[in-house]
Amino acid sequence: MCRRLVLALLLLLAPAAAAAQDGDAGRVPLPTIVKGKGEACVADTDYMRRNHMTELDHQRDETMHRGVRTRKFSLKECVACHATPAATGGYASINAPGQFCRSCHDYAAVTIDCFQCHAARPGEADTKRAGAFSRTAGELRQESEVQ
Ligand code: HEC
Ligand code: HEC
Ligand code: HEC
Repeated sequence: MCRRLVLALLLLLAPAAAAAQDGDAGRVPLPTIVKGKGEACVADTDYMRRNHMTELDHQRDETMHRGVRTRKFSLKECVACHATPAATGGYASINAPGQFCRSCHDYAAVTIDCFQCHAARPGEADTKRAGAFSRTAGELRQESEVQ
């Protein structure tokens, strides 16, 4: 199904899902989204639902390799607030099934590769793929343009 359509449906149904969780449990199989830490997200919640993908995008991110990027849309910050403690101690990967990033993505059939390189748990180093972080953002951008 067209992703835009799925997104539109998600946005339409989100209030219904919240209502369903309050009382009418289980009738509509919508994603359960774990609430983030603190009072608010780095931007308006509705804005984040619609625009987090473009705000996070490497390609669009002209400021990154010039070193003037703010921390506002840093993946580390997303993980710091949106990862949840695991039953076994520590934190669950933010991209594990049922966890924050996957809650909507599985529903919308979106797959992201971000956490092959970026840390998926608070305090974890970005070293999952040795070498990836020795490349510059500019090199990464060129590689993805070639593909
Ligand atoms: C092949 C490894 C790799 C993959 C896959 C990857 N990144 Fe990155 N990313 C990097 C490197 C290297 C940097 C630059 C080093 C840094 O700033 O931490 C970076 C920097 C960033 C930054 C700026 C620094 C920060 O933490 O905010 C953001 C935002 C970002 N990536 C988002 C993403 C998103 C979203 C995805 C998935 C769509 C993704 N990255 C996939 C390697 C990767
Ligand atoms: C300071 C903690 C904090 C940080 C940092 C943060 N968030 Fe949030 N985020 C929240 C909270 C709290 C909410 C729920 C706000 C509400 O209920 O109105 C939220 C809501 C969201 C939502 C909407 C979820 C829903 O229920 O529909 C998305 C999407 C989101 N955040 C993505 C991100 C991304 C991507 C990043 C990193 C760029 C990020 N957040 C960084 C705390 C944070
Ligand atoms: C409120 C639901 C929701 C949450 C929570 C959420 N996403 Fe998304 N995300 C979506 C939807 C829906 C799309 C597809 C939008 C489209 O294609 O227009 C998407 C797309 C993306 C994309 C672009 C993927 C592509 O190939 O086009 C990235 C990157 C992304 N999300 C990162 C994240 C990260 C990182 C998190 C966790 C910190 C997260 N998202 C949490 C709903 C969500």
